[in-house]
Amino acid sequence: MSRSAHPAGPRHADVLPDPHPSGAPADLNQLDGAIWPIAAERIRGEITLAGVPVTALAERHGTPTVVIDEADVRARAQEYVVAFDVASGNKVYYAGKAFLCTTIARWLAEEGLCLDVCTGGELAVALAAEFPAERIGVHGNNKSVDELRQAVAAGVGSIVVDSSTEIARLNEVARVAGVRQAVLVRVTVGVEAHTHEFIATAHEDQKFGFALGEAADDAIAAVLSADSLELAGLHSHIGSQIFDTSGFEVAAHRVVELAARVRDGHGVELAELNLGGGLGIAYVSGDDPQTPAGIADRLRGIVHRECNAAGLRVPRLSVEPGRAIVGTSGVTVYEVGTVKDVRLDGGFTRSYISVDGGMSDNIRTALYDAEYTCALANRSSTAEPKLSRVVGKHCESGDIVVRETWLPADVGPGDLLAVAATGAYCRSMASNYNHVPRPPVVGVRDGGSTVLVRRETQDDLLRLDAGIAAIAGTAS
Ligand code: LLP
Repeated sequence: MSRSAHPAGPRHADVLPDPHPSGAPADLNQLDGAIWPIAAERIRGEITLAGVPVTALAERHGTPTVVIDEADVRARAQEYVVAFDVASGNKVYYAGKAFLCTTIARWLAEEGLCLDVCTGGELAVALAAEFPAERIGVHGNNKSVDELRQAVAAGVGSIVVDSSTEIARLNEVARVAGVRQAVLVRVTVGVEAHTHEFIATAHEDQKFGFALGEAADDAIAAVLSADSLELAGLHSHIGSQIFDTSGFEVAAHRVVELAARVRDGHGVELAELNLGGGLGIAYVSGDDPQTPAGIADRLRGIVHRECNAAGLRVPRLSVEPGRAIVGTSGVTVYEVGTVKDVRLDGGFTRSYISVDGGMSDNIRTALYDAEYTCALANRSSTAEPKLSRVVGKHCESGDIVVRETWLPADVGPGDLLAVAATGAYCRSMASNYNHVPRPPVVGVRDGGSTVLVRRETQDDLLRLDAGIAAIAGTAS
């Protein structure tokens, strides 16, 4: 049985990862181009990111540090812009939940993307970045009235409505603001997809959206009769880390069917179909995600065919990739603190390599059984491969960063390890567990590095502790 939940894990449902990796790779020093940023390379043995050696990054910014390659982010964003033909009116929303800060928002605005935010906090970052409000889409299954007011006041392009309570709430907020707010209705199409499989059912037992059928039909009728709302389209999101596009194809088919029903029942042709995010990336060798061009061709083909068959004008097609834009562009650099060998049944010895971060900067391994690739970064090595587990510094045995990996047997204290593909859902899901300050995010480009989000300090953490002021007051 599954060790933990798999909403976005590398494998689906009840399949556990292999207890041991199948075998050591032929060359531990090699960087698989599908997993590392495009410009990652070893120069004189050391991993260099966009021309910046990891030792220079560690010296300047400390460890752990999340490094994001700007050119890599921009290139992946551009691939989506071209593949989905944004010039013709389609939209690519970057899902800010993957990782959001003002600098990245600006890079993506420059590349012509739209932005998906799902809380007031994400919206605040977008607005602080001066991201064009009309290119922002707002998500969330429980947006507060304040969040809705903030979004409407900012003039966001669309709000994806998720419940009948929210339809009424948003109608009132828009009425008071004196605007007609464009909305998409989020529907659950009975497709749940992860990695290589998808499940198609009639009902989904989850919190998002309106189930196809009566629930979705009622929501659409409610929006159409709301004076201050304008029905711009439909939204569907089917899962995460998806490699096989068949789930999207079923979803597209079902959403177009609904659009045809809306036309027949209400005489309204919808302007936009948003098929959500979830496009997978490679975390370990052998992961083989679809290319943006391949995905776009298939989805656009389906929507065109289905619309033609239903006699519908082809609507604008939108997608919301998060991981696929920033995931592979990010690398976390850690310093090794201790190395401990543990004997296992079956004659194995596993090396527990403790680094100076852990589940506070990457919860995905503990939460989803996610797999990662890591490499000795400050030097190459010809030592033999050793079965290793990269663990953090937290007071918890589940504090694992890379569950199974082969590293050179001579890795020791003071070495740097680089964990690949940490750009998405690592810093954004980071915590202060054990009062460990969260790591900085540093952008690299053309041989230079810039802090995008600074390292949290112990002072930052203490500042939230209201008791400190009281203690200081007693002392004085
Ligand atoms: N759009 C919607 C409505 C979503 O809910 C999500 C992700 C995305 C787009 C972006 O999905 P992406 O392309 O990044 O897979 N924290 C998990 C993933 C949960 C994502 C939830 N929603 C992880 O660490 O893998």
